[in-house]
Amino acid sequence: MDGNGRWAARRGLPRLAGHREGARAVRRTIEAARDHGVGWLTLYAFSSENWRRPHGEVRDLTGLLRHYLRTEIAELAANGVRIRAIGDRERFDPDIRALLVAAERGTIGNTGLNLTIALSYGGRDEILAAARAAAREVAEGRLDPAMLDEAMFEGLLSTAGIPDPDLVIRTSGERRLSNFLLWQSAYAELVFQDVLWPDFGPVQFAEALAEYARRERRFGARPG
Ligand code: FPP
Repeated sequence: MDGNGRWAARRGLPRLAGHREGARAVRRTIEAARDHGVGWLTLYAFSSENWRRPHGEVRDLTGLLRHYLRTEIAELAANGVRIRAIGDRERFDPDIRALLVAAERGTIGNTGLNLTIALSYGGRDEILAAARAAAREVAEGRLDPAMLDEAMFEGLLSTAGIPDPDLVIRTSGERRLSNFLLWQSAYAELVFQDVLWPDFGPVQFAEALAEYARRERRFGARPG
């Protein structure tokens, strides 16, 4: 969800104003996903690298996250949304961690949109943690390395049980994955849009879906 800072700068506003508007775009996007019958939506809200931003901006972003969790979760839950969080949540304050646990537990039985929020998330960190867990199993004699296959490895990732993305949308003209779902996006269609995240909404979401529908997906196989 890129471009909050630039959106604010173009208006002579502080970056926080861009992040606030970004949170409104989050709401619009969740609604658009539901309207299109999308089953799974993952939002990259805070990367493991974002902790390196100036202290004030980190405080603003975590404050916004706290506010968002306090004010939006009840409505999402009432609309049948199942909420999950992936990433290193231990780095957040205890009250935010508690809000995340409450959101996950409180929506566990919901069968509508599956919403995953990636927080303090990094794809390389995640793959390393899974590799470490597998190595531990081997070292403790519970796993034969020859038995470690993709399915088992996927079970060690934070996205265990969440399907791989079919489509990854990146806004603000950047054309890279920036450590997002590196393993899981192996065959994802990538759609890059120039729109800044705070201006993202149902129109841009529908455009991305239309672009996705035009792509021919072969998963490495030859055209039939
Ligand atoms: C990237 O824009 C955006 C972020 C680092 C934060 C994303 C957060 C939100 C959209 C709001 C909070 C979301 C939830 C779910 C509470 P940038 O700051 O890198 O902008 P720039 O690329 O223009 O500098």
